[in-house]
Amino acid sequence: MGSGIPRHIGIIMDGNGRWAQQRGQLRTQGHLEGLQAAKRIVKAASDIGIKYLTLYAFSTENWKRAADEVGFIMGLVKQYLRGELDFYRANHIRIRHAGDPAGLPPDIAAEISSAASDTGDFDGMQVILAINYGGRDEIVRAMRRLAESGSVELGNITEKDISAFLDNPDVPDPDLIIRSAGEYRTSNFLLWEGAYAELYVSAKFWPDWTGEDLAAALHDYQNRERRFGGVAVNGVK
Ligand code: IPE
Ligand code: IPE
Ligand code: MG
Repeated sequence: MGSGIPRHIGIIMDGNGRWAQQRGQLRTQGHLEGLQAAKRIVKAASDIGIKYLTLYAFSTENWKRAADEVGFIMGLVKQYLRGELDFYRANHIRIRHAGDPAGLPPDIAAEISSAASDTGDFDGMQVILAINYGGRDEIVRAMRRLAESGSVELGNITEKDISAFLDNPDVPDPDLIIRSAGEYRTSNFLLWEGAYAELYVSAKFWPDWTGEDLAAALHDYQNRERRFGGVAVNGVK
């Protein structure tokens, strides 16, 4: 018994730096190629009929990197959002953000917010860009909003209450989390939402990813049996 098409896929797009290093190029060149891969995967996922795709583009820990690299990535985010608007329109793709906008350079936060409102009515795939995103940070911010809302007594908080104050509470939990470049860790991605996500790790560096790699991940996912802590339907009795 397998699982069907995942409703929500999260991708940890890793390996840009190593991809460049392998070619004797600058890390920034890897990010540039990584952006091309992101475009290919968004198109492929939309064609397959995925409803939600979360792309981990910049973590709350990535600020530790050299200022040049950070600046370059932020520039790419802007370029991506501007350059792809026609493509989103043509494919009815809705852009959203996960992460703390307050920690972003104001022009980047504004760009994300304008792409989100320009595409807010589209009913095709939703692409959630995780930028200045950390799973722990998201939970902390959710808890603060929950406390400020005064809607629940702190002693009575339930999982549902916490979920309701996450960055995109209406987005279903990811069914599948993919990581490129061979590392077996979550690096702070969707900690709360990914509790029962199936994990798929590929050795391939992110800039080399194509629709075929996504198809391979989906094929693998479809042969998984998700039990959510229960017992296999056809399992040993
Ligand atoms: C992923 O590639 C992109 C970001 C984290 C922004 P990396 O830049 O982490 O590439 P590696 O892991 O150093 O190869
Ligand atoms: C995870 O990759 C973050 C993104 C892909 C945006 P990292 O390269 O930052 O993760 P670590 O440092 O290898 O855990
Ligand atoms: Mg990395």
